Amino acid sequence: MESILITGANGQLGNALQNICRNDNPYFFHFTDIQELDICDKGELNDFVKARNVRLIVNCAAYTAVDRAEDEPDLCFKINRDAVRNIGEVAAENGAKVIHISTDYVFDGQGNHPYREDDSTAPQSVYGHSKLEGENALLSACKDSIIIRTAWLYSETGNNFVKTMLRLGAERDSIGVVNDQQGTPTYAGDLAKAIQTIWQSVNFIPGIYHYTNEGVCTWYDFAVKIFELSGLPCLVKPLQTAEYPTKAKRPAYSVLDKTKIRETYSIHIPEWEESLDFVVQSLKFKVQSLPSPPGGSLRFKVQSLP
Ligand SMILES: NC(=O)c1ccc[n+]([C@@H]2O[C@H](COP(=O)([O-])OP(=O)(O)OC[C@H]3O[C@@H](n4cnc5c(N)ncnc54)[C@H](OP(=O)(O)O)[C@@H]3O)[C@@H](O)[C@H]2O)c1
Repeated sequence: MESILITGANGQLGNALQNICRNDNPYFFHFTDIQELDICDKGELNDFVKARNVRLIVNCAAYTAVDRAEDEPDLCFKINRDAVRNIGEVAAENGAKVIHISTDYVFDGQGNHPYREDDSTAPQSVYGHSKLEGENALLSACKDSIIIRTAWLYSETGNNFVKTMLRLGAERDSIGVVNDQQGTPTYAGDLAKAIQTIWQSVNFIPGIYHYTNEGVCTWYDFAVKIFELSGLPCLVKPLQTAEYPTKAKRPAYSVLDKTKIRETYSIHIPEWEESLDFVVQSLKFKVQSLPSPPGGSLRFKVQSLP
């Protein structure tokens, strides 16, 4: 039986795909994470794909610790570039297709209009460089590859900005959040549905696509909306990036133009506030008692307002 392999299945996007794929007949799915299948091991990957007649690999596995990557570039490149090349080569050798996920961090963020797929790339961080080299490695290795660049991903699982805000909002009176970086939040469940639409389509058109939710906001706007939707009485103070330096540089502007994926696959893309409301309502009673994740998110700082 032909099957679809989803790597990195325990991550945010991988979990979202697990949620929507359970009843997606007639496809047969293999959900793997590093414990079952390390994408850095090309031999293991090849054996897996061959033995199970995998026709499509959806690669959700990645090194995603953006700041830590500045201190461990070798590991970051091993997972985000070398392993992605492995996936492309194994897919090509076995006649399979690939859908791979990349990031807005391939851009330098100096633009002032939504980035199109063919706009010049100029990553500003180790993570961004590794993801761009992963894109190039995949495109060279496997002609039947689709790359979807996304941004500001969040979901009900894993560590993300929404969960962190809900937890901190229950603990604090106020918080400072960066207000000079513009982008668009993306609910992993919406991205998962877009990926599903692609594999269900009769047309698999290789190349790079952009997908986020619709709309534009700053991290500050994002936090304000989270507190508004959750009803948490936490004040948000706008910060400048310079007031809160991070190890890895972030793009100041990383809004993505989604015309290509919308028109090619007739995908409806929800507004970011609409999807956020859905997630906040399902999360708001769950995350407030969770302990802080190590490292946390780095686009905010907890502080008292004057
Ligand atoms: N999160 C964002 O804001 C964001 C923004 C733009 C683009 N993206 C991209 O979107 C994709 C999905 O992101 P996400 O947030 O869902 O990531 P995530 O939650 O960090 O999940 C990634 C998963 O991959 C696993 N993994 C790491 N190394 C592996 C290996 N060698 N073999 C197999 N699995 C491995 C991780 O396991 P461990 O946890 O054990 O390492 C984790 O379960 C990634 O390509 C990411 O670069 C994310």
